[in-house]
Amino acid sequence: MKGDFGKGKGKGDGKGKGKGKGKGKGKGKGKGKGGKGSAVVVEPHKVHAGIFVSRGKSEDSLATLNLVPGVSVYGEKRVQTETTDANGAPEKKEYRVWNPYRSKLAAAVVGGIDNCKVAPGAKVLYLGAASGTTVSHVSDIVGPTGIVYAVEFSHRSGRDLVEMSKRRPNIVPIVADARNPKAYRMLVGMVDCIFMDVAQPDQARILAINAKQFLKADGWFMISIKAPCIDSTIEPAVVFAAEVEKMKAEQLRPKEQITLEPFERDHAVVVGVYRPTKAKK
Ligand SMILES: C[S@@+](CC[C@H](N)C(=O)[O-])C[C@H]1O[C@@H](n2cnc3c(N)ncnc32)[C@H](O)[C@@H]1O
Repeated sequence: MKGDFGKGKGKGDGKGKGKGKGKGKGKGKGKGKGGKGSAVVVEPHKVHAGIFVSRGKSEDSLATLNLVPGVSVYGEKRVQTETTDANGAPEKKEYRVWNPYRSKLAAAVVGGIDNCKVAPGAKVLYLGAASGTTVSHVSDIVGPTGIVYAVEFSHRSGRDLVEMSKRRPNIVPIVADARNPKAYRMLVGMVDCIFMDVAQPDQARILAINAKQFLKADGWFMISIKAPCIDSTIEPAVVFAAEVEKMKAEQLRPKEQITLEPFERDHAVVVGVYRPTKAKK
């Protein structure tokens, strides 16, 4: 279920339904073959730049343009297409299928989120990278002109993240605690967007301190909230509303909220803008 803040629409703080399939239409269709030889067409997502929809015979899937053709990151299916470029020359492309059951960002896109600031050319700070499943798709989306600073505090997951990043020059893997952004301030520039998926009780505060350090004024944040990680004794909708209030108190202005059912239970993604007040002289 979707909700917008300040637009007079209902707030998306209840349970919602995703559609289970990616949607997209537009220019630049590519016809090709899926992994098992099934005919597929790949089209740009109709709302979000840098995201694609692979249309197969039996189902549609979300996909990203593979920055490292020929290589899967976590065993995901790859789809090749062959089209012609503006001069009529043959052009081959490879996409990686992006599963909304494995990525909260993909679940939010399939669920119909309006604002996704993970876009071509963007500089993204990703907090809670784990071994890099979603980070690898963010790397595809921002492309060669963008950058993903990926922070993960588990050394075990961090090892996989570092390994995966070796093939992807637009990822800067950082094995560190996001509660201490000063520890990685020498590695991270100012960013256009923070994506956060740490599943921690103090995540609104962690988001705020990272925004203060790295997010441009009017930059965007996207935060995944797992209600039981914050308080398992109350309704998820109440947890989401309380988290939104914490963000507002930190100059983070929520604009949109979406729950992630059916892909993730008791999760929501909140998207908003960072509006720091100017320091008084
Ligand atoms: C739900 S998983 C992230 C999954 C990942 N975003 C994906 O889609 O592939 C949450 C991750 O956040 C990491 N994490 C939790 N607290 C953290 C912190 N304070 N700093 C950095 N990483 C943290 C955990 O180690 C875990 O790998």
